[in-house]
Amino acid sequence: MCSVKVISLWILLTTLGSFCQGDLDLYMNSTETRRLLGIVGELYYVRMGIINNYALSFNLPIKSQVKDIYFTWRNLRGAPPDMYYKMSLSNSNTRALKDPKPSIAMEGAVPTKVTAFKVTLECTGLVNAEVDVVLQMNISIFSASNLTTLNIKRKKTCLKGNVNELEGDHNHKIIMPDPADLNVSYTFPDKNKQAASPGGFLSTSTNIFYMALGCVCAIVVLVAFIVLIHYFRSQKSNRNERMSCFCCSETSSSQALSHSGHTYLRADTPNNSVATYGGVRRIFTPILEPNPTEVRSMLKEIHIDRNSLTLGDVLIEGAFGRVYHGTLLLEDEKDLASEQDVIVKTVREQVRADQVEKMLKEAVLMKGMCHQNINPIVRACIQDPSQPFLIFPFATEGNLKKFLQSCKMADITSRYGLNTLQLVYMAIQIVRGVQYLHRKRVLHKDIATRNCVVDNQLTVRITDTALSRDLFPMDYHCLGDNENRPVKWLALESLLQRQFSPASDVWMFGVTLWELMTLGQQPYADVDPFEMATYLREGFRISQPLNCPDELFAVMACCWGLNPDERPKFSQLQVCLQDFYAALGRFV
Ligand SMILES: *[C@@H]1O[C@H](CO)[C@@H](O)[C@H](O)[C@H]1NC(C)=O
Ligand SMILES: *[C@@H]1O[C@H](CO)[C@@H](O)[C@H](O)[C@H]1NC(C)=O
Ligand SMILES: *[C@@H]1O[C@H](CO)[C@@H](O)[C@H](O)[C@H]1NC(C)=O
Ligand SMILES: *[C@@H]1O[C@H](CO)[C@@H](O)[C@H](O)[C@H]1NC(C)=O
Repeated sequence: MCSVKVISLWILLTTLGSFCQGDLDLYMNSTETRRLLGIVGELYYVRMGIINNYALSFNLPIKSQVKDIYFTWRNLRGAPPDMYYKMSLSNSNTRALKDPKPSIAMEGAVPTKVTAFKVTLECTGLVNAEVDVVLQMNISIFSASNLTTLNIKRKKTCLKGNVNELEGDHNHKIIMPDPADLNVSYTFPDKNKQAASPGGFLSTSTNIFYMALGCVCAIVVLVAFIVLIHYFRSQKSNRNERMSCFCCSETSSSQALSHSGHTYLRADTPNNSVATYGGVRRIFTPILEPNPTEVRSMLKEIHIDRNSLTLGDVLIEGAFGRVYHGTLLLEDEKDLASEQDVIVKTVREQVRADQVEKMLKEAVLMKGMCHQNINPIVRACIQDPSQPFLIFPFATEGNLKKFLQSCKMADITSRYGLNTLQLVYMAIQIVRGVQYLHRKRVLHKDIATRNCVVDNQLTVRITDTALSRDLFPMDYHCLGDNENRPVKWLALESLLQRQFSPASDVWMFGVTLWELMTLGQQPYADVDPFEMATYLREGFRISQPLNCPDELFAVMACCWGLNPDERPKFSQLQVCLQDFYAALGRFV
């Protein structure tokens, strides 16, 4: 099921309706298609008098931030101007959208030079809504005395509140938790919390957390202390200490070999034996994957009506999947309605049933889970089985991978200049999320920044993998077996034998940590996916990112031990990263 990215083929589709004697162009110019659709090229509604019915049938979504839309046109008959237009603009929701205003008169002659006109779509900011706008254009030719009607459709998203709030907000302040608040591992009282907030899945009360924190505090401080002593000992004796954080201190000082122009890390003694890790398996028995019937019934439990969901801007789009920012209307027991921002995963029209089935199966992985670093599905709308809507709690900054990459671009559009402290903070949260999953006997099997979301306080939450293959096609490869897998993230035993364990999640976390430190670069970018297994077996790994402290790279490197038993446990990773965070915090 290797998905091939279809690059908006529909533009190339020609079509057909005849017009008046090959003499009108009406189109969106390339500036406009790039702005609205993210593609290069003009989109013709009418070209040399031929009407593109396919383009006309497309109801183009307009994001909330976009106010003006442009059209370009020209009467090719030349002088004398005998082609006239008469236009009207309809608005399906006058409460959300002010009446659209064109920059030209409602009727007149079609210009004989290439000219653009704009239509201003201004939201009122009173309600969230998707508003259908139709620009109707009647074109008549004086001499032929006949009429052609064109209907150009737009779906404008209006959000409640200030429409332009996304702009000019460059002084965003992040309150980083004090290192002291991070030093404790805890178990989240999920059952209580779920009972306490029915429907209010977005609330993040931390009170219970602090109560639980008190109890565990004493024990963990002790553990942290012991580990700290271990660490200092191992530093002094410069010996590879299994229990300490930097278990792979030898690996990190091992030789760096040059490979195809790049430096990669190579362990001293490659271990070619494929590991057996019965020990881990005996303790960890993952819960069984649900079958399609069970998936459907799980989704029915959280079913909502389509009417209570409003779709907003498209956040990410793939070949067949789409992620929207939406709003969900919720009613509590007292019939008080409240609106919640949500993330909506769905598919485009006409997607194969097995692709939909797969998305649903992946989406229920975390259903019912409750942890501040987990973003589980909370509602679903499966009225139309071919186009289900899966609803997740909202995260202001969206997908973590996209967020990191946007931070990397050194332009002012990024409000965050992420530092190591903040990146480590995010890593710690991922560790906590995975620990929670493992306590629930769930193996994630695809830990990566693309499967996380982040908000403006840098809170990171792990999500399921539904649609990831489609939205991040570069991160998945088919090794000739008709299955798309995150090859560059997989532990060797997962790659070769499809064996997954908590230890293989640790490996993937190591790659994720590398992604964090490189702000969303592709791991093993110049290694052929087919070569990965050999490459890993020979002891090569991704190299230390620039500006990545040695200690942190040592943590990653231990996650990539060939033998699963050699890799640290998540509990060790947590203590280790928290110590590092605390140590860094002292200098910041
Ligand atoms: C365009 O023509 C159609 C059919 O003749 C008519 O119903 C419609 O009102 C006209 N629209 C405008 C803007 O003149
Ligand atoms: C497209 O139209 C806009 C609006 O008039 C204009 O600013 C822009 O320069 C045009 N782009 C091209 C490539 O013609
Ligand atoms: C309009 O009139 C021209 C010339 O008489 C004719 O060729 C064309 O088919 C007509 N178009 C429509 C849509 O009726
Ligand atoms: C850990 O956190 C607790 C409370 O937040 C604090 O009292 C304690 O001193 C901290 N310990 C360390 C080693 O930072």
